[in-house]
Amino acid sequence: MDRKFLWGSATAAYQCEGGWKEGGKGMSNWDTFCHSEKNNINPVTGDVACDHYHRYEEDIKMIADGNQNAYRFSIAWTRIIPDGVGKISREGIDFYNRLIDTCKKYNVEPLVTLYHYDLPQSLFENGGWENRATVDAYEEYVKVCFKEFGDKVNYWATINEPNYETLCCYGFGNYPPNVKNLERRWKAMYHLMLASARAVKAYKNMGYKGMIGLVSDSYPIEILKDNEEYRKAKKLANIFFNTSVNDTCIKGYYPDEYIEHLTELGYDLSYMKEEDKEIFKAGTVDYLGVNAYCRFLVKPCTGRETVMEVNNTGDSSKNEEMEIKDWCALDDDPNTKKTPWGTEIYPKSVYDMLMEFKELYPDTPIIITENGLGEYDIVEGEKIHDQYRINFLQGYVDWIKKAIVEGCDCRGYFVWSTMDVYSWINGYKKRYGLVYIDFDDNCKRIPKDSYHWYKEFIKEKGGSY
Ligand code: BG6
Repeated sequence: MDRKFLWGSATAAYQCEGGWKEGGKGMSNWDTFCHSEKNNINPVTGDVACDHYHRYEEDIKMIADGNQNAYRFSIAWTRIIPDGVGKISREGIDFYNRLIDTCKKYNVEPLVTLYHYDLPQSLFENGGWENRATVDAYEEYVKVCFKEFGDKVNYWATINEPNYETLCCYGFGNYPPNVKNLERRWKAMYHLMLASARAVKAYKNMGYKGMIGLVSDSYPIEILKDNEEYRKAKKLANIFFNTSVNDTCIKGYYPDEYIEHLTELGYDLSYMKEEDKEIFKAGTVDYLGVNAYCRFLVKPCTGRETVMEVNNTGDSSKNEEMEIKDWCALDDDPNTKKTPWGTEIYPKSVYDMLMEFKELYPDTPIIITENGLGEYDIVEGEKIHDQYRINFLQGYVDWIKKAIVEGCDCRGYFVWSTMDVYSWINGYKKRYGLVYIDFDDNCKRIPKDSYHWYKEFIKEKGGSY
């Protein structure tokens, strides 16, 4: 495999494919959730989404025309094994073969995520990731993918964001199963991490030579005051958001201080089995995929009970609230610019994070698997002048360059997202795409100014990374 820097963009199956009842696909927890009353904030579905299921060739051509040499997408488990376990669907396998072959046809390297939030409904009903049986089912599913696509795919990602997904499922409670219970969260996350390690181990045992990693949402943690209490909050936040995932998949064991803290909190950890230790060791990743959106500013807890509210409104006056009892609370710097959804715009965060990784994990290459800006975009005469997104992306790629020059082994960068997609909970108003999708006009595609900027940037500067 040649070592070119990957310049691409990313999507995920549920967010873009549509075709929710086509090609023999089974139902996922997101199909069910989006059709339920619980989906009440922005009640739309991914039934059609961007219709990528039918228009993937047009999209991949657009990626290639934009000078991108890579495309990150996810496989819907429900297309491969519609009921989660058991019968394999040829139609589903054929679809992804066509998708991968089309990437190859246009010289676009596929980076394939095996699980990006959409779990077969049958497994979800049996406890989802809280149930160890889901790990067994996942291993069977990924082995089918390796066997069917392993000769053509050089880059795999096992799981997308074990941290953020479980935070939403069991912390904010805005993703199914819509629970607010952090003890259950840690259990589900453990099983996701175990599933990832089992996938890596299986991949290696099957003799494939590509790179397999995990995609982690990671955050440089910062404090606005330097005193003991703030430093303690920073340390705990780092365990909570970063090392619980990153150490585990890179070093092959859970950090001691994480286990100690959960034990102090009196949690039942009997789901962590002795025999798993060997699997975590054997299942360390070849690279870490990093979804880089922002930093976290934290402060000590104030003593209140846990409150976790994410801003799904698109109204910037509504702040996110995160006060996690016995861990840390989210702080706010009123001087930093924010998106309409309240996320800080702070491109230097990617540099700080990469430099931290260089110290912590010197032998593990990094691929930035997502980075992007969610905004309300406006169409003006068939054009979208998203200069704010260009500024954002330019800031990030400049800081990444600096980190590379200073010795960080970063091997790729993917903009989230290839085109506007369904945004979990935020529906179709929160747009991240390089290409605009007119959801009211047959999913018409219109490249935004940022698409043209990215195309030129890769041409002019891409080779120097
Ligand atoms: C990442 C996910 O966490 O953030 C993507 O991997 C997601 O699937 C992206 O779309 C942006 O999140 P949101 O909620 O703003 O759409």
